[in-house]
Amino acid sequence: MESTQPLTAEAFRRACGRFATGIAVVTTLDAGGAPVGLTVNSFTSVSLDPPLVLFCLDRASQALPSFANANAFSINILEESQRDLSQRFAAREADRFAGLSYRLGTLGAPVLPGVLAVLECRRHAVLEGGDHLIFLGEVIAADAGDGQPLLYFGGRYRLLGM
Ligand SMILES: Cc1cc2nc3c(=O)[nH]c(=O)nc-3n(C[C@H](O)[C@H](O)[C@H](O)COP(=O)(O)O)c2cc1C
Repeated sequence: MESTQPLTAEAFRRACGRFATGIAVVTTLDAGGAPVGLTVNSFTSVSLDPPLVLFCLDRASQALPSFANANAFSINILEESQRDLSQRFAAREADRFAGLSYRLGTLGAPVLPGVLAVLECRRHAVLEGGDHLIFLGEVIAADAGDGQPLLYFGGRYRLLGM
């Protein structure tokens, strides 16, 4: 990089978009026991001891009250064939869980079928993060398969090239 420029929204988006991530669907139950979830790429592992992870949730998200009131959530890490699930959980569907045979995990939060890995979390803290809230979770249970991940880079879905 030869030089940096004063920040514009476009420069910020472009630079952040150069950080390749996986894709996860975070899930919980609302106050009435209905499943709630959305696609995120802001998942990060934070601490080994205690085992902590985080994701960032837009303050404008319809899912915010459900996550703010729930004691538990699941991080469902998507497998390469699950682009449709990523799109479904990012769209304004009436019921994103319609027709999905999810199960409820150890802490009661939904676990999606066929995912590459799942981390079941107890809510540890919620931190201020500008126009997002940062949800820190303590991982209580986890499982991982041997498949390949769905990736996101430069605003597009990608597959691992090896
Ligand atoms: C690849 C991808 C990554 C996303 N990452 C996040 C994220 O980290 N945090 C977030 O709040 N929304 C994220 N979104 C947006 C949500 O999936 C969803 O579109 C948005 O929350 C609108 O629906 P809602 O109002 O029901 O939450 C992402 C969307 C896509 C397609």
